[in-house]
Amino acid sequence: MKAFPQTFYWGGATAANQVEGAFLEDGKGLSTSDVQPHGVFGDVVDRVPGDAGLKDIAIDFYHRYPDDIALFAEMGFNCLRVSIAWTRIFPNGDDAEPNEAGLAFYDRLFDEMAKHHITPLVTLSHYEMPWALVKNYGGWGNRKVIGFFERYARTVFERYKGKVKLWLTFNEINMSLHAPMTGVGLPSDSSKAEVYQAIHHQLVASALAVKACHEIVPEGKIGNMLLGGLMYPLSCKPEDVFKTLQENRGWQFFGDVQARGAYPGYMLRYFRDNGFALEITDADREALKSSVDFISFSYYMTGCVTADEALNQKARGNILNMVPNPHLESSEWGWQIDPLGLRTLLNVLWDRYQKPLFIVENGLGAKDKVEADGSINDDYRISYLNDHLVQAREAIEDGVELMGFTSWGPIDLVSASKAELSKRYGFIYVDRHDDGTGTLARSKKKSFDWYKEVIATNGASLKA
Ligand code: BG6
Repeated sequence: MKAFPQTFYWGGATAANQVEGAFLEDGKGLSTSDVQPHGVFGDVVDRVPGDAGLKDIAIDFYHRYPDDIALFAEMGFNCLRVSIAWTRIFPNGDDAEPNEAGLAFYDRLFDEMAKHHITPLVTLSHYEMPWALVKNYGGWGNRKVIGFFERYARTVFERYKGKVKLWLTFNEINMSLHAPMTGVGLPSDSSKAEVYQAIHHQLVASALAVKACHEIVPEGKIGNMLLGGLMYPLSCKPEDVFKTLQENRGWQFFGDVQARGAYPGYMLRYFRDNGFALEITDADREALKSSVDFISFSYYMTGCVTADEALNQKARGNILNMVPNPHLESSEWGWQIDPLGLRTLLNVLWDRYQKPLFIVENGLGAKDKVEADGSINDDYRISYLNDHLVQAREAIEDGVELMGFTSWGPIDLVSASKAELSKRYGFIYVDRHDDGTGTLARSKKKSFDWYKEVIATNGASLKA
């Protein structure tokens, strides 16, 4: 019978800026996420405390985490992905000393997980960095930020080495190409050359964090994190097929550097052809050799690629500029649902890297209806997750080494792209709405018991 390994990590994934709130509490500094209250593609605004932004309170995980973790434990989670807000530890990024109150918060959080035998999977940087590093240094465009990040990484490895064994460096590192402020702290009108230079600094920082983790947490494992943006050719025209190869390399390049330890030739050619004279030193090349232990990624959808400019123009504006696939249905937010694509992606990544894989985000953002009796019948979410997990199991049968599955947003949280609460992902409903109203009370959706059963049976309850 097809099965998930007994060691499989089952759980959910969150990010500090989308759940914690308490955005200026206990000495926390402003982050790039705080100054983008309208989401990762939104404008940067001058913040006045309390003036706007659902993320300021988010779902108040900062204060309610013990109850939320108890609910995750009730579902049987043995893993929870969280991120550390860099600004809780170094509020300005370049502070002389770390902020003890911030460090103490994550001690409490990891202790609470340990009480419930939940393994933390911790992202060092999930779509945020200290705003002061952007204002005073120019974000990742400045080589000095590598050192600030390395110090932050070493600080948290030292502090939590007894509690956290699974780490990730930068969330969806390839998103910088589409959302430069969110990814690398650069203005949205930055040139491609500037963005790639900042990305280079971030790739070096990621590799230095891998090295530091291996030194400080030798029994730990550290992975990268890619937005798994698998693209299909819209037709079998050789031009479409070749353009698809190039588009896929657009995100695979990040994994190639992080897993293989050097820039691939196709990328060096791309820089040459476009006249991008990146500063890549010998010390950088040496640093990049520290390769990740495993590859983690998010997966929500696939898209198509065409060499036909007229069709491309029509598709402009959606996330990653994908051309819609006529064979797939879409979510309410236009994300095309493709469970089989997950099996393809797992096989592609396994063939390419031969390193363990970890699905650290997958889920359905949808509007949920609370019935008069308080129940929430999210069969659409159950069906989405069921179908993706079935394909993940098929990939394991194909020989892919898969470490685990943490579904995105096990509890409703503030969405990243547009900072909405009406786009819900959770097994747990949170009573908070786009206009900021709501009691923040938690309640279980139908999917709560469904996921509990999936975990309890190690996937045997899935419907193939
Ligand atoms: C990923 C991010 O892009 O997708 C998450 O890592 C994000 O932070 C998730 O929340 C879903 O996107 P959205 O915009 O629906 O929240």
